[in-house]
Amino acid sequence: MEYFYAQDNLSLGQMAARWVAREILACPELVLGLPTGSTPIGMYQYLVRLAQEGLISFTQARTFNLDEYVGLNVDHPQSYAFFMREHFWSKVDLPKGNAHIPRGNVSNPAVECLRYDNAIQKAGGIGLQILGLGLNGHIGFNEPSHNMEIHTHVVDLTAETIQANTRFFPDSSAVPRQAITMGVGNIMQAQKILLLVSGERKRDILNKTFYGPVSTEVPSSILQLHADLTVLTDIKL
Ligand code: GLP
Repeated sequence: MEYFYAQDNLSLGQMAARWVAREILACPELVLGLPTGSTPIGMYQYLVRLAQEGLISFTQARTFNLDEYVGLNVDHPQSYAFFMREHFWSKVDLPKGNAHIPRGNVSNPAVECLRYDNAIQKAGGIGLQILGLGLNGHIGFNEPSHNMEIHTHVVDLTAETIQANTRFFPDSSAVPRQAITMGVGNIMQAQKILLLVSGERKRDILNKTFYGPVSTEVPSSILQLHADLTVLTDIKL
């Protein structure tokens, strides 16, 4: 594991964007695993800037988002598809057909999970997986549990996650109770992982992630076992 400290959230975004840019320059057809949430917003802003300045291009890249809420369609302002369109897809030269995200508003989410796993497999797996970190240690939407799911699956969100994500919705009752998420196996099979962690409130979970036991109760702790993990954080441990 490599660990890099950023002064603040702004420089974290710049560092992450430079990291991704370097990987894209080295491998233009890179398959990227992408996160949502407030932490990666700065990274997307800088990546957009680099792309608009012509320094990098996503024309040959493919992207797979980690997760999506069940029941929200792509035009719902709180859907992750909407987030991605706002912050990234509509602003860079990534071909539309190369941007993938689980479809939350489908009649059969289990079938959607299979379709998504097949699409990842067809693309040759994830080359660089970028991750945020949930307050309870979730990665994607892999919540603390007695077991870890390998593949893309439907998950019941924990009360803690519903509470944490209420800030994006009118109230907690509007937060979807389920999501589709890549599994821990999809994430761990990525060739490289870049974990972004920002803000004092994540200090405790960051500690548990890397200095605690590997446990299904802290899903992010499994990242200790990944062979090529880089952590960018503005928290001084
Ligand atoms: C959501 C997403 C995660 C993300 C996490 C942290 O629940 N499903 O992929 O990492 O929130 O978000 P934030 O960066 O806003 O703290």
